[in-house]
Amino acid sequence: MTTPPRILLDCDPGIDDAFALLCALRFTELAAITTVSGNVSINNTTRNARYLMDLAGADVPVHRGASAPLLVEGVAADEIHGSSGLGNLATPDSEHPESGLDAVDAILQYCADGDATVVATGPLTNIARALQKDPSLPERISHLYWMGGGTEGGNVTDRAEFNAWVDPHALDITLRSGISLTMFGLNLTHQVLMGQPEIDALRAARTSTSSVLADFLEFYRENGALHVEGQPMHDPCALLGLTHPDLFETTKSHIVTSTIDDEDRGRTFVHEPQTNVEHYVAVRADAPRVIDLIVQAAINPTPVA
Ligand code: BDR
Ligand code: CA
Repeated sequence: MTTPPRILLDCDPGIDDAFALLCALRFTELAAITTVSGNVSINNTTRNARYLMDLAGADVPVHRGASAPLLVEGVAADEIHGSSGLGNLATPDSEHPESGLDAVDAILQYCADGDATVVATGPLTNIARALQKDPSLPERISHLYWMGGGTEGGNVTDRAEFNAWVDPHALDITLRSGISLTMFGLNLTHQVLMGQPEIDALRAARTSTSSVLADFLEFYRENGALHVEGQPMHDPCALLGLTHPDLFETTKSHIVTSTIDDEDRGRTFVHEPQTNVEHYVAVRADAPRVIDLIVQAAINPTPVA
């Protein structure tokens, strides 16, 4: 058995973030969770992350992050994720304490020894703030796996994906920082759809996590845009892209974005690769095997190693 990769997960739970978090518990050594406002407010994303630790019986520090994007006003996605961020669940307060260290300092501390792996499944506000605080940070991050952007249009506007559009300045700072990164955008995540068969599998498993995650998935299916084939499992793709790279195909590229507040805000433009720019775009997923791993983690988030 190989040693699971050690990671920090920056997220805004959020239903698909919750699935990504359970995948992180099962397939990685999850060193820290940093929360960011995005799908819902920072109070709710932080509360949800703490609740998910209790639900999964895990003890990973949760560090509160940015309550708003860098320069623009925050916009939530509660119509898709529910007012709490976790469907119909009124997230109970958790036994799991919130860390006294904020997200930016947690990121800097986690990366201090170098060769750090970061997975981000929300707007990149915390990452950008960490880069602003210490511009030498990219030297110590071996790779950033980010869910956001895309090559074929958007979901919040015709051209922009939610995480990119919510904080385009943070994305721009990250893309220009020299960090080596892979973008798991909508072109990829729309290949990984979960719906009734996965709800049935989760219900049949009857574990403490599976029935709760089945409720989340049911809410997500009923409130998302694609009703028939299932809903895209965006965020787990970035996590599994790290842990199971054989299930994804990526191409080397150069990604840029626009921060101007017009129809191109947060759009990701994918150009030919450039020397000294380590950007990759995920283009294809082995969807059945990816979905199988997501379901496994939702049934049992205990580490596999
Ligand atoms: C992304 O936006 C959020 O609503 C999801 O959690 C995901 O990170 C998809 O566009
Ligand atoms: Ca997310």
